[in-house]
Amino acid sequence: MNPPEQWTAVDRYISEHLVPGDPALDGAVQASAEAGLPPIAVSPAQGKLLHLLARSIGARSILEIGTLGAYSTIWLARALAPGGRLVTLEANLQYAELATANIARAGLSDTVELRLGKALDTLPELAAEAGGPFDFTFIDADKQNTPEYFTWVLEMSRPGSIIITDNVIRDGAVIDDATEDPVVQGGRRFHEMLASEDAFGGRVSATTIQTVGVKGYDGFTFALVLPR
Ligand code: SAH
Ligand code: DHB
Ligand code: MG
Repeated sequence: MNPPEQWTAVDRYISEHLVPGDPALDGAVQASAEAGLPPIAVSPAQGKLLHLLARSIGARSILEIGTLGAYSTIWLARALAPGGRLVTLEANLQYAELATANIARAGLSDTVELRLGKALDTLPELAAEAGGPFDFTFIDADKQNTPEYFTWVLEMSRPGSIIITDNVIRDGAVIDDATEDPVVQGGRRFHEMLASEDAFGGRVSATTIQTVGVKGYDGFTFALVLPR
């Protein structure tokens, strides 16, 4: 599943020109690799895109589902308006501990709240606490539950909120209606729900963009929450 050399080379070119590293981001990547975390964080170019999207709407509250080593978390938290906050949900204790250290090194401990637990448990808790509305959400956890996560996130959104969902293309497998891969099934079910007026009550307008790069061939869905 290694990406073609050219995709990697071009991503390096983009990073060199437009996405300078810094001690916090580079440190998060290095510490994650040393701790043996899977190398599945967003790429630098994708991290900066998330950052720019959140910044462009002046986000004051951000939700992330799937922290890993907090690489995307750091990009997103840095987009927050002064006084803003980010809640990130992670089920794995070891990842959460490393993420907490990486967030501290980035000077974001007061901005980021990491909640340990399965997102299907922590999302209802967050909603019950009136944890929203979130201006911007990044869904990037276990992909088979993406449609359920999206449903919860919509509950905690407002008209104008943006919801980005990662890994919805999976090497193009999203069009394979015979797939037995739960990750791909999650992406397919997600698209079916977005396509159905009933599922989200016509409350979102969405599109999906295919991507290539250091992470291979995949894609993300951009959804805008509409007025009720
Ligand atoms: N957003 C990160 C990458 C996340 S990888 C980045 O780009 O830097 C997916 C993460 O989701 C992993 O850390 C995994 O432990 C977490 N995860 C998997 N199942 C989960 C669940 N049920 N609830 C919360 N987190 C989960
Ligand atoms: C993979 C990539 C991701 O971006 C992710 O969130 C989870 C898994 C992967 O390539 O396996
Ligand atoms: Mg991802």
